Amino acid sequence: MKKRLLTILLSASVITAAVAQSGEQKLRNLATYFTPEKKYLVLPVKNGAPKRNIELWADGDNVRFFDMELADDKPDWYAYLDISEWKGKPVELRVDKLPVDSKAFAPIAQSDEDKNAGEVYKEKLRAQFHFSPKRGWTNDPNGMAYFNGEYHLFFQHNPYGRGWGNMTWGHAVSKDMIHWTEVGDALHPDKFGPMFSGSAIVDSFNTSGLGEPGKPAMIMFFTGARSWAQAMAYTTDGRTFHKLDKAAVPRINKDNRDPKVIWHAPTKQWVMVLYVERDGGQHSMQFLTSPDLKNWTKTSSLNGGIGDDRYLFECPEFYELPVDGNPANKKWLLTAANSDYAIGSFDGKTFTPEAERLSNQRGRDFYAAQTFNNQPEGRRIEIGWWRTHTDKDDMTFNQGMSIPLEHKLVTTPEGIRLTRLPIKELEQLRDKTYNLGKLKLKEGGKNPLESINSELAEIRTELEPGKAATITFTLRGLPVVYDVAKQQLTIDGVTAPAALQDGKLKLIIYVDRTGVELFANDGLMFMPINKNLEAANQSYSLTATGGTVKVNNLDVYALKSIW
Ligand code: FRU
Repeated sequence: MKKRLLTILLSASVITAAVAQSGEQKLRNLATYFTPEKKYLVLPVKNGAPKRNIELWADGDNVRFFDMELADDKPDWYAYLDISEWKGKPVELRVDKLPVDSKAFAPIAQSDEDKNAGEVYKEKLRAQFHFSPKRGWTNDPNGMAYFNGEYHLFFQHNPYGRGWGNMTWGHAVSKDMIHWTEVGDALHPDKFGPMFSGSAIVDSFNTSGLGEPGKPAMIMFFTGARSWAQAMAYTTDGRTFHKLDKAAVPRINKDNRDPKVIWHAPTKQWVMVLYVERDGGQHSMQFLTSPDLKNWTKTSSLNGGIGDDRYLFECPEFYELPVDGNPANKKWLLTAANSDYAIGSFDGKTFTPEAERLSNQRGRDFYAAQTFNNQPEGRRIEIGWWRTHTDKDDMTFNQGMSIPLEHKLVTTPEGIRLTRLPIKELEQLRDKTYNLGKLKLKEGGKNPLESINSELAEIRTELEPGKAATITFTLRGLPVVYDVAKQQLTIDGVTAPAALQDGKLKLIIYVDRTGVELFANDGLMFMPINKNLEAANQSYSLTATGGTVKVNNLDVYALKSIW
């Protein structure tokens, strides 16, 4: 009874620590106690409002700290901070510079559900078959791994605003890499600083000792963006996360981040590739090895570009693949945030490039991609951050990911090259099918795509341009133009090479609300173009100029939403 009384007293107490004057507005620092009874603390957000620093203290510890555009009056949307961990115990909420008449925390609202005003995932600018967070900002995918029967996609998340900040690892799970369920933030800013990007592995042999018998741990490596150390967290159930107090790798140079960890079977050790900016703005990748994931030794380092030349700049990715599917001929691929890559060999300590600065990705704003570790069939599947123009209107979220892409290495006349193709699991989204077969496309002729009316689409075609000058797909108002003489594709001002092969051009195009992803010549060129398509326009056309195009096949699928 006594305890309850104390809780009520604490809940009611508001301590005004300081009152400051800013212009006309009277501001104060607020410190107040409340007792978590429900799952979430409801935080009202006003896009563009001044940022306030908010802290939550429990048992004398600063357990959450972040800034946010707090709505003093009517909010645009609500962010939900999970407080279930402290249920029944008084916690302290501190807010700096809160206007004296602010209604943000009067009363302190809690809720067991996270609710939007409108229906979540149906918002006007929500991509319909690409992952995006329920609320807040995202950038890089993080910690991608298959663990305990699920694909895990962590992501750089600002849970409290539509802009970059408060870097937290958001967390979504999927059985098929297509349909994602967000399950709450996994890693919050702490003494290491905000949680910058990193990777996750499954410690199947329990080299770290962090697993339990029959229950291996998934271990996550991230950069703490205050200490700039590479730190660790682990989980055995895929839902609850424990951080290790000691960093795995202390800061190497002023700017180092984004650890990618993999298992190197031939030498039976763990390998970390870490981005390190060296003196003079030299980008480099540092290789380290470890027997137990906790103790790391530097082995070698490889330089990339300098300054604005962003070859091998941040977000490393490193893996081995068979060439042309031949397991006796494997090569290693090293890449970084802008996806330019090197192919070479790796002996467990040193990566020796055989070809460098290659590029497959020629689109706009595809960045910081990462592949799943531990993929059960040994496929190499990537998801990238695909910057979208979603910071608009009453959207409660901003940014999203690409579709999942399967990587392969193939031999071409120019040498070994990476191909990216949409994963086969996307086929389940096909709804209505239009097999438009073989046809001849003449200048001024009939539009073979006339009957199609769909917001979301997948198009597969093989074209023989012959003497035509241009071939144009217009996708819900967005022209995709192939210049036959130049052997180039142009979409929304971005131009990319797409050479004819035996006089033919093969294309796969995915169309969603926030842009199109194009794959040319069996994935030798990938061109994601972010562009919000006009909601009212769901029409498609295919036209040619200057000659007749032989269309060897043309299949269009209207697609279903993943949500
Ligand atoms: C790449 C990046 C990473 C960093 C993260 C922070 O987009 O700058 O290097 O870890 O974003 O959000």
